[in-house]
Amino acid sequence: MNNDIERVLYSESQIQSRIAEIAKQIENDYADKQPVVISVLTGAILFTVDLLEKLDVYTTLDFIDVSSYFGGTESSGRVELVRDLKSDVKGKDILICEDIIDSGRTLQFLVDLLKKRGAKSIKVATMLDKPDGRDEAVTVEADYAGFTVPNEFLVGYGLDYDGFYRNLPYVGILKPAVYSK
Ligand code: IMP
Ligand code: MG
Repeated sequence: MNNDIERVLYSESQIQSRIAEIAKQIENDYADKQPVVISVLTGAILFTVDLLEKLDVYTTLDFIDVSSYFGGTESSGRVELVRDLKSDVKGKDILICEDIIDSGRTLQFLVDLLKKRGAKSIKVATMLDKPDGRDEAVTVEADYAGFTVPNEFLVGYGLDYDGFYRNLPYVGILKPAVYSK
């Protein structure tokens, strides 16, 4: 699997130390709150776990699956709810955990949904932000972002290509030959 990677963008240690910085910010902002952390399946699970274990804050954890990618490297543009939350978010402070914000349509869909359900506050933490991919109709942005990345297709640390590479501890770019397989 590692042999399919052309270039590493962010190493495991770079990622972990950046998450520690973000955790400090979140700790300050949520010192007197008990947020519901909503992890967006499947890509955000590595980031969610690494962030949560560095956070000295009372949190609960829930998962949602909102998908707009169907196995390719380009977003389809449609967003659908694949699996819903277990918790009622009404009146709650929400911290959304994402792997990457690209077009931003997934995030827009989520924020709109949680607002409609009566969330008290909504903030967003993302490991990666790809601002060049942003859809012009999208109005939401991340409150905490690990790294701003170029407009390239990335894998690792939760990000997949066709379901694979999520378990790489770093973020990288695939060799072009992998796509033509
Ligand atoms: P958006 O709705 O276009 O912002 O896309 C968000 C979702 O698309 C992310 O949560 C990822 O699952 C996926 N995605 C976006 N860019 C990449 C990438 O470079 N590699 C792998 N998945 C990506
Ligand atoms: Mg995702």
